[in-house]
Amino acid sequence: MSNDPFGIDFGGTGIKGAPVDLDAGDFAGERFKISTPKPATPEAVAQVFRDLVGHFPASTSPVGVTVPAVVRHGMVSSAANIDPSWIGTDADAVFTEALGREVHVVNDADAAGLAEVEYGAARGRTGLVIVTTLGTGIGSALIHDDVLVPNSELGHLEIEGYDAESRAANSAREKEELSWEDWAERLTTYYRTVERLFSPELIVVGGGVSKSFDKFGHLIDIETEIVPAKLRNKAGIIGAALVATRAAHGA
Ligand code: BGC
Repeated sequence: MSNDPFGIDFGGTGIKGAPVDLDAGDFAGERFKISTPKPATPEAVAQVFRDLVGHFPASTSPVGVTVPAVVRHGMVSSAANIDPSWIGTDADAVFTEALGREVHVVNDADAAGLAEVEYGAARGRTGLVIVTTLGTGIGSALIHDDVLVPNSELGHLEIEGYDAESRAANSAREKEELSWEDWAERLTTYYRTVERLFSPELIVVGGGVSKSFDKFGHLIDIETEIVPAKLRNKAGIIGAALVATRAAHGA
């Protein structure tokens, strides 16, 4: 079991990692969590990754890492909610060097989306599936017939003059102490825009708050079928391991 791919979820408060069983679509061992360093520069984060991966010294398989940012060919090119020093960083190269094994970095929502399509709430669904993660920001994954169109960044749609995530992310609900009803009204505005622009077959709601979907899901008034994510906070780690394995095999 020691040579399972490893997934790391890099978030604002914690950095979590676990080996992943890609046949089962689940963790293959214990998950470790280390607090996100402040400031969370690529170098400080690389040290945390070394500690996490150090729990599995025998493993040589690829490591997948989620980041809450745009990633193209391993290069990070946005930093809405992370340290600005990430912009322009070749994260694949920095982490591959730091860990001494192959590392592939992927946008956090794209990783979660791939995992939900492969193993979770969108498994077996064809056509366009949009997975959104409602957390500090809003992340999105556009997946058509199992093929991901990366870096869709639908959290930054401009709606009624606002950056959508500043109104509709879970952090806005918490900060403004919105009731589920008031928040659902904002989510309705948000998802109506998404459905008008993309006509998806299915929308999946992920992020930690998706465990409370029964409190707000039925209040979102849209045409499209909308369901909670299944893999919850495992999706990022599992999706990252999947991306790293596919990349290592040239898929
Ligand atoms: C970032 C995205 C990220 C999302 C969720 C947004 O602010 O721009 O890249 O996927 O937050 O973390």
